Amino acid sequence: MRGVTAADAVVLARLHAAAFAPPEAWGEVALRQMLGLPGAIGWLRDGQGFILARVAADEAEILTLAVVPEARRQGVATALVEAACAAALLAGARVMFLEVAEDNGAARALYAALGFAVAGRRRGYYGPGRDALLLRAALPAETGG
Ligand SMILES: CC(C)(COP(=O)(O)OP(=O)(O)OC[C@H]1O[C@@H](n2cnc3c(N)ncnc32)[C@H](O)[C@@H]1OP(=O)(O)O)[C@@H](O)C(=O)NCCC(=O)NCCS
Repeated sequence: MRGVTAADAVVLARLHAAAFAPPEAWGEVALRQMLGLPGAIGWLRDGQGFILARVAADEAEILTLAVVPEARRQGVATALVEAACAAALLAGARVMFLEVAEDNGAARALYAALGFAVAGRRRGYYGPGRDALLLRAALPAETGG
């Protein structure tokens, strides 16, 4: 695993397109913009997946997490989230947030296993009738083992 920079935007866009349905996939320009945000951090497993997060003072947020279908259920996302949480903690964050579609069972199971709990709901966040759940974990995360 390695840290990402704006120079990785093309590689990240390819992974994002493989992981998400077309309307939800982020292109190279959007990813480069995300990487240029103050406090942006990211980790990449070449050919498998990546995570982007942002740290602002004592709070951090996962911006996106993508693992290609062929690399799933092998602990890639777990390793990426743990790397992002560890980096955010080092940067001074004490809590990590993220938004997940309520109907995204895989991501919700992943985050629950990593100690994230529901802290709110954003109605219609992903379109009419598709709510987002706001998840939260204290850092260091308590994964229960
Ligand atoms: C969600 C996603 C990132 C998970 O990546 P992954 O590398 O397969 O996750 P891991 O292998 O680390 O899974 C860890 C645990 O999460 C849970 N989990 C992961 N995928 C699951 C699924 N499809 N169904 C049920 N539980 C799942 C399991 O508890 C799993 O542990 P196990 O494999 O020992 O049972 C991946 O499916 C993905 O990229 N999906 C599309 C994009 C997306 O939804 N991103 C997140 C948006 S917030």
